Amino acid sequence: MTGPSVASSGRRFVGKVAIVTGAGSGMGRETALAFAREGAEVVAADIDLPGAEQTAAAAEGLPGTVHAVQTDVADAASVQAMVDHAVSAFGRLDVLHNNAYWAPIGLSVTDTDLYQWDRTLAVTLTGVFLGCRAAIPAMIASGGGGAIVNTASAAGVASSPRFAAYVAAKGGVIALTRSVALDYGAQGIRCNSVAPGLIDTPAIAPVRADPERLAWVTSKLVVGRIGQPVDVANVVLFLASDEANFMTGECVVVDGGRLLT
Ligand SMILES: NC(=O)c1ccc[n+]([C@@H]2O[C@H](COP(=O)([O-])OP(=O)(O)OC[C@H]3O[C@@H](n4cnc5c(N)ncnc54)[C@H](O)[C@@H]3O)[C@@H](O)[C@H]2O)c1
Repeated sequence: MTGPSVASSGRRFVGKVAIVTGAGSGMGRETALAFAREGAEVVAADIDLPGAEQTAAAAEGLPGTVHAVQTDVADAASVQAMVDHAVSAFGRLDVLHNNAYWAPIGLSVTDTDLYQWDRTLAVTLTGVFLGCRAAIPAMIASGGGGAIVNTASAAGVASSPRFAAYVAAKGGVIALTRSVALDYGAQGIRCNSVAPGLIDTPAIAPVRADPERLAWVTSKLVVGRIGQPVDVANVVLFLASDEANFMTGECVVVDGGRLLT
């Protein structure tokens, strides 16, 4: 079994400005810090302001600065304010990582009420639409193209039991990613998605709390361990970097081989 490797500090994002949504916890926090480690100026956006502020505090001493900005990705005005903050504080926008999500677990279609469906779609899918809609003009105005990386899920590539609204939203994220890639490629905007499998964040607390379930899901992972946030951050940074300049519209699965089993 090989453990996760920490992203290098090659300063790949010096002079670049990145927004990460859902940056107050889990993979969003890890990715925001990874961008700052590589020299980016970062807006850590989250509905949970104290969480985003903890991320900003953890970035002290890194090459890039991290600003915490309270943002509800389901709210158009809030998302526009997030983009405006990036441009007014740092002067430009190069990268948007749409990572925030909300979804109730353990619900098939007939168990899901309309509020749960609507809120899941609003945060997890409409939030990605609003982020792209607000960021693309700012990226174009910045004059250096742009890279968008949307967090989908292996559950949106295949499926996942009793997770209907989430699976639908993540399938939508993968499709929307392709649409954005197609429509804005000529203007220098690339758009890709990353589809994590089981990653050790607060979101999987119910799995962590059940040793039998944890052992079963781990047994389904070809690499023999659940993922760590840095495993996904590494791929997000690659997709956002110039190294991925010939990739757009792609969905990269980062699941330790789970879909193979
Ligand atoms: N952890 C996993 O196993 C896993 C697997 C596949 C995909 N994902 C995806 O990875 C991404 C990150 O998940 P995580 O595991 O780090 O979760 P997490 O719960 O640790 O973090 C999610 C963050 O999103 C924020 N958020 C919720 N609603 C918001 C809103 N309306 N506006 C702004 N921020 C909001 C939360 O406050 C939280 O900080 C999500 O898109 C999730 O669907 C996670």
